Amino acid sequence: MSSESRSTEEPPEIPQPNVYPFNWYDEDPKLSKLYARAKQEHWDPAAIDWNAVRPEDYDPIQKTAMAYWWAVLANFENNAAAAFSKALVHLAENHYNISSQRVTGTIIMDECRHDECCMRACNRLCPYFLKGWKPKTDLDTKALRNVRWVYYHGGRYWKGYAKAYEKYRFPLIFTSFMMGEACASKLFHEMKLRAEHPAFQEAFGHLTKDESRHLAYTWFVLENAIPSLAEEEKMLIPKRLRHGFVYLSMVLFEPPQEFWQLPKDFMDVHRRMEEIARDAGLGVLTLEEKRSAWKSTILDVKRKIGKYNLPFPDLPEIGISGT
Ligand SMILES: [Fe+2]
Ligand SMILES: [Fe+2]
Repeated sequence: MSSESRSTEEPPEIPQPNVYPFNWYDEDPKLSKLYARAKQEHWDPAAIDWNAVRPEDYDPIQKTAMAYWWAVLANFENNAAAAFSKALVHLAENHYNISSQRVTGTIIMDECRHDECCMRACNRLCPYFLKGWKPKTDLDTKALRNVRWVYYHGGRYWKGYAKAYEKYRFPLIFTSFMMGEACASKLFHEMKLRAEHPAFQEAFGHLTKDESRHLAYTWFVLENAIPSLAEEEKMLIPKRLRHGFVYLSMVLFEPPQEFWQLPKDFMDVHRRMEEIARDAGLGVLTLEEKRSAWKSTILDVKRKIGKYNLPFPDLPEIGISGT
């Protein structure tokens, strides 16, 4: 082949699925706005004055209980960064518009920030809580064991999440995030109002804003997908929503046994930790407060899902019946 013919020859087709060819010009105006908002709302967890969380201001068990709460939250935040990373690869390989790829990228960074808050809070209260911190009492030991159980089930969830990409289209996979994002944003808002320490208030304020953006994105993905949803896909929506509810219940409410099989005394230890953390001023809600926060938030989700004539799951735990 002469060098002249090579210079005009086009490259072969790129084998698919592939992140190439990418398309800068396939923007979605609504999602571009969400992307712009995410950039404006960037924040730095390291800029929060964590040093003002003074370990000497708390009893040893209060420190354990607050570190416990943050470590349980980290199960969801750390996992979420990886979950949205997987989503981003999927969106890029399947040529979803560039705006949805960018918004997903901002969520990965948000979840990294949330996870960093968990780590920084734990480090101030019980340095190296997850690796190297020595429990001093039986309750300390049980608290750490509880965290390991939560992470064990987090690992089970991860396997199921990864497999879901083989079974469902992306909008269905994404629907299960809707409950979590809706309730997390409500919970963090309520915790910001109750938390006594300015560092915790600041962290919860940022978390609230971020989760509300994530929620807007989950609605966008679903609304956009509705015209192309097959009947059997619509019928799967309640199952996906309930999955999200059950998984997130560990931190947002109380863990249903259908997924969370835990040692007998797990819940006793969990409730004690939450109570002690609440008394120490972390802003943890009581079970009744959580139930009513979940309920009002989820009723909003249910109303909106109903507007699209989509079915909704039974959530007897918080007194909501399905459709
Ligand atoms: Fe988060
Ligand atoms: Fe989120």
